Amino acid sequence: MTAVQPAAVPAPSPDFAKIKATQQATWASGDFSRVASRVVFVAEQLIESADVQAGDRVLDVATGSGNAAIAAARRNASALGVDYVPELLDRARLRAQVEHLDARFEVGDAEALPVADGSFDVVTSVFGCMFAPNQQKAADELLRACRPGGTIALASWTPAGYIGEMFRIFGRFLPPAAGLQPPSRWGDPKHLGAMLGRGAASMTHTRRICLFKWRSVEENLEFFRTYYGPTLRAFERLDAARGAELAGAILDLSRRFNRNPPNGPVSMEGEYLETIIVRK
Ligand SMILES: C[S@@+](CC[C@H](N)C(=O)[O-])C[C@H]1O[C@@H](n2cnc3c(N)ncnc32)[C@H](O)[C@@H]1O
Repeated sequence: MTAVQPAAVPAPSPDFAKIKATQQATWASGDFSRVASRVVFVAEQLIESADVQAGDRVLDVATGSGNAAIAAARRNASALGVDYVPELLDRARLRAQVEHLDARFEVGDAEALPVADGSFDVVTSVFGCMFAPNQQKAADELLRACRPGGTIALASWTPAGYIGEMFRIFGRFLPPAAGLQPPSRWGDPKHLGAMLGRGAASMTHTRRICLFKWRSVEENLEFFRTYYGPTLRAFERLDAARGAELAGAILDLSRRFNRNPPNGPVSMEGEYLETIIVRK
């Protein structure tokens, strides 16, 4: 007698359009430009690592208030920043104008970039396209926008680092849609290889640390729940008791990642992966 095998249940496929609309509202809440000014040096370092030259055409994907586009324009490159939050792009334009830089900003989706194939010498994303819900589509767009022989440069939070852990905590309190991959997979070289390897002549990875410095872990929490959309929205969606638990979990996490002695100013280590890809 042959045993009848139960039919395999297909994995649920996430509703990417719906998820993206919610995410867009999340990034538009608070004021991400306030957070971005605390991590400027990540973009400056990435542009140095990508060896951006004067005259290069540089595309910064999910640019927010423009950190990496502006860093590229400071090297006399011609930069375009794309993001789906218009208010952040307004802030980016203001910053570029104040510094007299050649940087333009356009509304667009990391999964459907408003640019021609192979039209950029350098394509960057700092903690940006890692948040697109359809990760392969976002990766395909990076490859499409970059010319053969050009450079793709990425900064991505690692799964075990401070921000990777923070997103895991959010997921414990507010489970993500079924089938959605954690953004911090972009901080895993194996996953990047699987997504981008077919278009890469070479791919090098460097683990780096971004320090978050505050007078206390409480000040850090207050700042993030006021200005950082994902934290702000998580607290909005929880009742008071669960919100207090989330606050406790973030404070514990911050103490764990603080490299300073207790009872003084804090310096939390946020590990990220810097990836430089030479396009085939
Ligand atoms: C953590 S912020 C980083 C912003 C900027 N790269 C920086 O370094 O300051 C994430 C950014 O990604 C943008 N973003 C997320 N998903 C996107 C998508 N699918 N298309 C365009 N922008 C997206 C958000 O609007 C937000 O500005």
